[in-house]
Amino acid sequence: MSIQQTKFLLHKNMILAVISMLYVSAVSGVFAAPAGATYLDEIDLSAATCGAGRHPRAKRTVEGGPIALAGKVFARGVGVHAPFTFKLLANGAAMRFTANVGVDDDMHDRPLASVRFLVLADDRIVADSGVLRAGERAVIDVNLAGAKWVTLKTTDAGDGYACDHADWADAAFVFKPGAKWGDAALAELSRQLGVLTPPESPAPRINGPSVLGVSPGKPVLYYLPVTGAKPIQVAVEGLDVDKLKEVTFDPKTRMLTGKVDTAGDYKLVFKAKNAKGRAERIFTLKVGSTICLTPPLGWNSWNCWGQEVSDEKMRRAADAMVSSGLADHGWSYIVLDDCWRTRPTEKEAGFKRPGWVRDPPHMYGPAREADGTPVSNSHFPDMKAMADYIHARGLKAGLYSVPGSMACCYTFGSWAHEEKDAATWAAWGYDLVKYDWCYGDREWKKAGNDRERQFKAYKLMGDCLARQGRDIVYNVCNYGRHEVTKWARAAGAHYWRTNNDLKDTWKLLLRSIDQNMEVADAAAPGGWNDPDMLVVGPMRSNSFTTSRLTPNEQYAHISLWAVMASPLFIGCDLERLDPFTRSLLVNDEVLEINQDTLGKVGRPMVHTSEYDVWIRPLADGSHAVALFNRTWEEIEIPADFAKLGLPSSCVVRDVWSQKDLGEFRDRFTASIPGHAALLYKLSKSKE
Ligand code: GLA
Repeated sequence: MSIQQTKFLLHKNMILAVISMLYVSAVSGVFAAPAGATYLDEIDLSAATCGAGRHPRAKRTVEGGPIALAGKVFARGVGVHAPFTFKLLANGAAMRFTANVGVDDDMHDRPLASVRFLVLADDRIVADSGVLRAGERAVIDVNLAGAKWVTLKTTDAGDGYACDHADWADAAFVFKPGAKWGDAALAELSRQLGVLTPPESPAPRINGPSVLGVSPGKPVLYYLPVTGAKPIQVAVEGLDVDKLKEVTFDPKTRMLTGKVDTAGDYKLVFKAKNAKGRAERIFTLKVGSTICLTPPLGWNSWNCWGQEVSDEKMRRAADAMVSSGLADHGWSYIVLDDCWRTRPTEKEAGFKRPGWVRDPPHMYGPAREADGTPVSNSHFPDMKAMADYIHARGLKAGLYSVPGSMACCYTFGSWAHEEKDAATWAAWGYDLVKYDWCYGDREWKKAGNDRERQFKAYKLMGDCLARQGRDIVYNVCNYGRHEVTKWARAAGAHYWRTNNDLKDTWKLLLRSIDQNMEVADAAAPGGWNDPDMLVVGPMRSNSFTTSRLTPNEQYAHISLWAVMASPLFIGCDLERLDPFTRSLLVNDEVLEINQDTLGKVGRPMVHTSEYDVWIRPLADGSHAVALFNRTWEEIEIPADFAKLGLPSSCVVRDVWSQKDLGEFRDRFTASIPGHAALLYKLSKSKE
């Protein structure tokens, strides 16, 4: 197949541009899909990537309107935003691809709207529309026979992706007789893993970390997470020592509260029983200078609500954290991200803001009260009451600010009010602060080079938070820049971002993993590397449907975040948690690896272009091993014990399925489907 076998017709003022002479006579201005073809809008495009944080839409433009090209409305097709890429494993089963392509008519008056459509068969370009602008339409009809991979691309035509709403109208594949999307020929796209987490046992199980770090004299706030058939009775032993006289445990609310003035490690034993059995867990209350001894587990509003966040949505998230059962698996923080504060109007700000900043009037308002107290916008009538509501459910509350005067969402920041802000947040009862660099350079530019000024800005807030009368977990969010892993801990941080924002695409997932891997050494109890929030489940980027990562990729995501000891912040709508997403978040053995008290992070001992073998030593002497398939195809991945520094004979447990697989000598090999990672726990065999 060559470019000569491809034809294009450009419909612009009836100009006909024909690359191939083969089909000229058959073509009018619009090309209908051949009979029996499979429309592109019937195919699962969750693995596709789009620009501007969008995702492809079936039968609609990327904005949700009707598909229209050069005045012609199409009922079928896919609306995308450039740059768009979709790679289909055709395995020779795709014979032909046809489409009408162009910039959607909704951008008819935008000079910046220009795109280019490409079709690749394996690595060869077999169709190239050239640059198309608003009002132009081209036809693609291309022979694909023999291609293993077919790639559809819409590029920004070199002038940036602004306004690039593009359509693949009436786009369709002709597959070989008998081959259909989703079966035989295309199934090799990869066996997708379903739910692996076993159903919750009715017997009681005590979950969550087995250690809690608290500063001397500051309030203890701990909810004991327990699963099992209700009613469950819980109790604690070990509080009857003098130094713990101000600590109480309420078996009804399962809350451990109070304070301890003297530093030390205090051993407690939590107990749970119900009609089906009993459970016990040894727990250490570590009173000292280090808090956040295991990575925090929680939910954050940003991926879900962005600018639309409100007090009501936060409360609903807290309720859903409890009603979904997640709180009983150890999930505890409810974090309010950007957009809770006021912002100036564009006129007050004195500069033009980008179009994505919508200005709902509820956000306008003064930055501060007369005494300097930060003002929340009218979607947050009472920040203290909201924190109280979260605490009343046994959860912890977090909020967001920035070191400059303007946050990423153009709301006000903490610049020159750091002490006041920290004191206010503590008085309101917040337990976590995410401090995001955003436009910090504006105010901090005179404070040294990039690294110096970020350190100063972050340390200033870190010191303010540490002076408060409650423990506040401090998150430095500077997107992994300026060697943050080398100074964040000294700035008082408990976790720090190691990369730019993660979205639910494979490419960005790999970026987060690969960048995090390089700084593994920086993490230890009290300070963790943060490859960003979880992108599983229904959230904004996928119009509240479900993550654009395939199920296998979601296993890679959670398995790697467990071995990397990453903070886990769910970013989806907890009220719309589907059974698959929930199963990823409630696997107690996976969470136990993430929360392991040894606090040594995992590393890839084997790292090839095809697969990784990650290993993480655990407190009980065993090791967590993640077998990570970077390819599309299912492959056998060997865990070679000698290479991994493991004993020659190991007992292997499949962590996701929670099943013992038996004893293995020298190596353990598993078949891992494309783009997935699975977790195993390897313990030395008994002699
Ligand atoms: C940045 C951060 C995100 C989020 C937004 C809020 O992009 O990296 O996690 O906090 O700002 O505006």
